[in-house]
Amino acid sequence: MIPFLESVVKRAGAEAMAYFNHSRENAVTSKKNRNDLVSAADKAVEKVIIGAIRERYPEDAFFGEESGRSGTVSEYCWVIDPIDGTQSFVKNHPFFSISVALQKNGRTIAGSVYAPALGLLFSGETGRGAFENGIPIRVSDCRCLSEAACSTGFACIRAGLKKNNLAYFNAIVPEIRDIKRCGSAALDLCFVASGRYDAYWELCLQEYDIAAGALICSLAGGRVCDLEGGANYPEKGILCGNPALVRCFLPFFQEKSR
Ligand code: IPD
Ligand code: CA
Ligand code: CA
Repeated sequence: MIPFLESVVKRAGAEAMAYFNHSRENAVTSKKNRNDLVSAADKAVEKVIIGAIRERYPEDAFFGEESGRSGTVSEYCWVIDPIDGTQSFVKNHPFFSISVALQKNGRTIAGSVYAPALGLLFSGETGRGAFENGIPIRVSDCRCLSEAACSTGFACIRAGLKKNNLAYFNAIVPEIRDIKRCGSAALDLCFVASGRYDAYWELCLQEYDIAAGALICSLAGGRVCDLEGGANYPEKGILCGNPALVRCFLPFFQEKSR
C-alpha cells in the first residue's frame, strides 16, 4: 500500500506547492473561529487526494478535514488532512504536511505524511515498518527528561479551552532540554518516529491530524497513548516517544499535578 499512498501524497504535494510558491492565488478564510484558518489550497489539495484514491478504490469511504465524511459505507476509510499546518502554510513557513491514512474497520493500517517544502516523506504500513524517504526509521533512545528535545502544540487555546496545555507546558519545559512548536501535529509525530524529537504531546486534536503520524510513530518503536497512558487518543490528548520516556512524562498529566 505504501507505493500507492506515496504516489497520492506526492500528487497532492505538487498541488500544495503551486499555492505555496504563489503561482496560484490562495484565498484564506476562517472556519469555526478566527484562528482556525482554511485556504483555497486546503480544499484543492483534498480534492486531488480524494480524486486520486477514488480512481483506484471507488468503493471506499473518506473522512477529510475539509469535506467531511463521503463515499460509500465500507470497511475501508481514507482519513485525510490535506494541509496539516495551515497557519504555517499561509505564512510561507515550510513546516506543513499532507497526511493520508487508510483505516480498516476503524484501525489505521497504513499512512503517509509528506512535507513537500522540506523534502520529507514518511510512510508506514502494519507488517512492514516505518520509513523516511524509503529508509527505515526508529524513535530515539533518550531515557531522561533533562536530555529530551520535545514538541507540543496549542490547538486547545484555539479551541478556547480553559483547561488547556499551558499548565502542562509550564510544568514540563523547565524539566526538559528543548521545546519546539512548529504547528503540524502530523509532522511532529513523524519527527518523534525519526528521532528528531524525543517526545511530543498535545490536546484537542482530531483523528485526521494524527491517524497517519501515530501509526508511523508506533511502527518506529514509539509508544503512542492518551495523556492517561491509555489508547483513547486523540480524544483524551496524545503523547508519544520511546516507551521509557513516555513513562517519565505521564505523571505531568495526572490530575493532581495541575
Ligand atoms: C493543526 C496542526 C497544529 C495543531 C492544530 C491543528 P491544521 O492542523 O496540526 O499542529 O496544533 O491544532 O489544527 O488546522 O493546520 O490542519
Ligand atoms: Ca490538522
Ligand atoms: Ca488541515
